Amino acid sequence: MATTTANVTTFETRIDIEADVRKELIDLLNQQLADATDLFTQTKQAHWNVKGLDFFQLHELFDTLAKIPRKQADLLAERATALGGMALGTVRMAAENSTLPEYPLQTVEGRDVVNLMVERWAAYAASTRAAIARSGELGEPTTEDLLTELSREIDESLYFLEAHLQGRQS
Ligand SMILES: [Fe+2]
Repeated sequence: MATTTANVTTFETRIDIEADVRKELIDLLNQQLADATDLFTQTKQAHWNVKGLDFFQLHELFDTLAKIPRKQADLLAERATALGGMALGTVRMAAENSTLPEYPLQTVEGRDVVNLMVERWAAYAASTRAAIARSGELGEPTTEDLLTELSREIDESLYFLEAHLQGRQS
């Protein structure tokens, strides 16, 4: 049997996690799913539109990094469904629910694009860490572990981006 609240369906499950804990985790995972989907498309936007003398390496870097939130979206969505929830994963749902700022079309120069990527990846790193903490407070180590695994990849990606800005004082 399924129940529906605020247009979101939750399914009965034999998983040994309380319904109210599952509900909050599903919401948390769907929020991260929206941000991951938004970050995937924004990193692709950077991949396609970056300009300047560092064009090619940034073009390649952004393509490599874009694969991470794309893969993470799948893991977040499938944890939400494993908890009896419905994954809210379309691009329209992501656009409606993402906490990231929109991609500014006027920003094209390499260093400026790296800066806007840093801002968005740092926001995703921070929201993931907050979601880890909340999963811990809720006493649900499996979701906490999944988010911790994702967090390591996000932090490394942020380092790859920020290394471009740390080489000279400005
Ligand atoms: Fe491409």
